[in-house]
Amino acid sequence: MRKPEISSRLFVQNRKRLVELMKENSLAVFNSNDIMPTNADGTMPFRQNNDLFYLTGINQEETQLVICPDFPDKKFREVLFIRESSELLEKWEGHKLTRDEARQISGVETVLWTTDFPGRFHHMMAMGGVERVYLNTNEHYRSDVVVQTRDARFIEWCQAKYPLHRYDRVAPLMADLRIVKQKEELKLIQEAIDITEHGFRRVLGFVKPGVKEYEIEAEYLHEFVRRGSRGFAYTPIIASGANNVVLHYIENSLPCKDGDLILLDVAAEFANYNADLTRTIPVNGRYTKRQKQVYKAVLRVMREAMKMLGPSTNFFDYQKEVEKIMESELIGLKLITKDDVRRQSAGNPAFRKYFYHGTSHLLGLDVHDVGNMHGKMPVGSVWTVEPGIYIKEEGFGIRIEDNVLITRKGVDDLMKDIPVEADEIEELMNAGK
Ligand code: GLY
Ligand code: MN
Ligand code: MN
Repeated sequence: MRKPEISSRLFVQNRKRLVELMKENSLAVFNSNDIMPTNADGTMPFRQNNDLFYLTGINQEETQLVICPDFPDKKFREVLFIRESSELLEKWEGHKLTRDEARQISGVETVLWTTDFPGRFHHMMAMGGVERVYLNTNEHYRSDVVVQTRDARFIEWCQAKYPLHRYDRVAPLMADLRIVKQKEELKLIQEAIDITEHGFRRVLGFVKPGVKEYEIEAEYLHEFVRRGSRGFAYTPIIASGANNVVLHYIENSLPCKDGDLILLDVAAEFANYNADLTRTIPVNGRYTKRQKQVYKAVLRVMREAMKMLGPSTNFFDYQKEVEKIMESELIGLKLITKDDVRRQSAGNPAFRKYFYHGTSHLLGLDVHDVGNMHGKMPVGSVWTVEPGIYIKEEGFGIRIEDNVLITRKGVDDLMKDIPVEADEIEELMNAGK
């Protein structure tokens, strides 16, 4: 089996936690994602809606979940709808879940076919005394969705059919739940991190002048997939030379040159959960004096940032503090001066020329995971810590990124075993030469 059996207990508990947040006489609906078309009869690989996955563990298209906690008959308080297979479908696409299998994966007792949805849904709305309907929208702070999702189509359908019900957003409830990782989820994230570590160590022994960025990509992918991952957690960024100042360089097409650095923002997924790792390594196995100087500055910022994280940290205050530390490192590197800082305007601080992204984001089922960023960082939330200094005029940039778990005492660096010291990286790259 490529994927581990995730205990249905996780999904049962997740639904229970959601029900506790729902108001009286309400019902919530979750839809799977569509299979996205490409051209002609082509499709993208299916990617499940993460809220639906979080509540059911079902990785199949055309799935719906309805939760109606106050329905009089216990059997209809949770109903899962899955696509009914056929002999023809099985011939083309292989096995689809049976109702029994879906029951075992999700722990939902009542599993019906998607074709039963309209009738059963109406029954639940009418007989469940439903006054309020929770529907799902993508409210991620960076989302930019230009296609109509299944959830969006459902909202149109539902509001047209039941115009006088009260409607509410389930997204804030899901964000509050998903920000705190359960033990089982942490194990899956750690597995994604451990697989990522294997890939990185393999690449340390592979890189030398002349290798192409895409050859490095292939090394990672082989290592990830052979270890049970479905592949990359996100489009890998393998940026050598001047391209490593471009935050989302994904061409990965150039040969790596002697004397240059390669920024490797590459990580594995495992069972729908993600790692997010960045290391910046020298193509020839040795950092130059200047590269090492900047590398050490970035690493100091990462370490100082980690010390600030804990259950009483507010994300926005933390970001400001990290920027102050970065500012003094940039002064130390003679990239900016104290005068630049004195003269800077609030909207355009001096450090921004060299550090032009946030330091941390949530991580989980989404690489940029959902969760309320305004409160304190809850125990059990997982964040990245990823400072970077990008010096276009010197032809290189450096980012270092680890993933940490917020604990009662502070943080646990989930990537502490992945080489990060410049000297260790050099040693590993030169071992056996
Ligand atoms: N790999 C994307 C990021 O670091 O946010
Ligand atoms: Mn990241
Ligand atoms: Mn990253």
